[in-house]
Amino acid sequence: MCGIVGYIGRREAAPLIVEGLKKLEYRGYDSFGVATIGGMGLEFDKHKGRISENDQSAIQLKGKIGIGHTRWATHGIPNDANAHPHLDCTGTIAVVHNGIIENYAELKRQLTARGHTFRSDTDTEVVVHLIEEEYAKKKDLLFAVQTIVPKLEGSYALLVISNNEERMIVARNASPLVIGIGDGETFAASDMTPILEHTERAMFLEDGDIATISWSEVAIYNQGILVTRPLELIDWSLEDVKKGGFAHFMLKEIYEQPQAFYNTIRAVTSETLPDFVHNPTSVTVVACGSSYHTGLIFKYLLEESCRVPVRLEFASEFKYYPPPIEGLVIGITQSGETADTLTALKQAKARNCKTLAVTNILGSSVSRLADATIFMRAGPEISVAATKSFIAQLAVLMQIVNNISGRKCSAMLLHAHQAIEEILLIDLTAAVSVCTGAKDIFYVGRGPFYPVALEGALKMKEISYIHAEGYAAGELKHGPFALLSPETPVIALCTPGDTYAVMISNIKEMKARGAPVIAVGNEGDSELPEIADIFIPIPGTTPFVQVLTSLVVLQLLAYYTAVALGRDVDKPRNLAKSVTVE
Ligand code: AGP
Repeated sequence: MCGIVGYIGRREAAPLIVEGLKKLEYRGYDSFGVATIGGMGLEFDKHKGRISENDQSAIQLKGKIGIGHTRWATHGIPNDANAHPHLDCTGTIAVVHNGIIENYAELKRQLTARGHTFRSDTDTEVVVHLIEEEYAKKKDLLFAVQTIVPKLEGSYALLVISNNEERMIVARNASPLVIGIGDGETFAASDMTPILEHTERAMFLEDGDIATISWSEVAIYNQGILVTRPLELIDWSLEDVKKGGFAHFMLKEIYEQPQAFYNTIRAVTSETLPDFVHNPTSVTVVACGSSYHTGLIFKYLLEESCRVPVRLEFASEFKYYPPPIEGLVIGITQSGETADTLTALKQAKARNCKTLAVTNILGSSVSRLADATIFMRAGPEISVAATKSFIAQLAVLMQIVNNISGRKCSAMLLHAHQAIEEILLIDLTAAVSVCTGAKDIFYVGRGPFYPVALEGALKMKEISYIHAEGYAAGELKHGPFALLSPETPVIALCTPGDTYAVMISNIKEMKARGAPVIAVGNEGDSELPEIADIFIPIPGTTPFVQVLTSLVVLQLLAYYTAVALGRDVDKPRNLAKSVTVE
């Protein structure tokens, strides 16, 4: 949930690390820090707050080797002391860490008993004191890291430097770590976003890998044995990680959705789908948050189109309450690093299920774990709120449904991006003014539009901080009706099909309780503009396409509402993009 960057090369490290951390802020942004090895030895600078708003002092650090960190607090409040890097007692070794050291309390107790002084409340600080002890024995940083890593329980991507060594040692277990190979310089980071500007050549470390990165070479060890990891060419463009004239990454990413959907539809074909996905007798899906919602849309579409039963589980529940499962298990995770989803997939594998990962990130943990992986083609998503990754997940899952159903929907899916494009320019001014004045908002839909309602509500609460709940439309009268009033707008998804008539009745019932209704329905609908307070027409003639277009309406509604309320859209409070803790 934190972002880390390291550098060794021909240029000054600090400015590069600062710029890299700014690109990683979507992973956490409550404090930051940088350490370098310069002429004066180890120098560091760390602060509470965001590096994007406070980078000047860090940039002054000198040296061509350095490490940096942007934090999402887990152990210890966001303050200067808890910000990384953490230093050993001698002030000559510095560590940055992404992950959680689960046994830190016991290690801290032992280290304190042996005389170490702790300056923070973090779990991370034990790592640097452990390294300090081993370094004292042989004056070899690689040896020290290799020796202490087996003592750590939990997850970590670590970058370590010492003012006695002209190299950086990095280590990975269950937290992502990529090494970027540039021209006379090498980077190590949580992901490619800070590296892309400098090189497209990268190696993804695996669990248990410890690497030493010097001026001239990268050597990777696993269990003490020298190993090689493939050098991959990353085809994300630099433009993908810039705002490109948009006010926020979220809006840019919403506008990138037609392309993300189309590219993914083109990439996922019956030839590229793994064999075991062609004809499953039953499917279990594990996921969290927005990815869970795409799983629920998939369940409706697959069960309806192919009569294949789909079981959907919150990955966070799966570990502790494992249901009886067999057959195909699909883990959906944009980041490929969500701890709960990884654990659920591991358990599914242990029970001899075939596992498929759907992810956006090449080299992510999930792609190494699952039996097969389908990569969506969304490109990097910077805003914390998932938008284009959601649409691209749907592209993958709709292609799976299409394939199992005998490819009846191929033409429709190949053109669906046009309807998404059309909806981007919709005017939502009236609906936004209703939402900005609300304390609570209900979202309702039926069938696959129920998870669209859940996702719309999640987007709204996540970035506008207005309380919003998604409901299956028929459920509102079983309790939540008590909350309806002129101050609680209801957003109703009401598209043509078997449930149209009952949705119209539901809307009338809500209106009768005084709730303002914003209806999203088929363009050309003559009834909805009559009964709803605000009618938002969407294009598309099939449920598949209307799921997509109604979803984009709800993303835009959340976005413009949050902007109107002056929220920090791309970095909403208390959240992080990649949730690598349970
Ligand atoms: C939604 O906007 C959030 N970013 C969040 O719910 C997210 O979908 C969830 O944390 C799962 O992330 P993943 O897809 O990377 O596993």
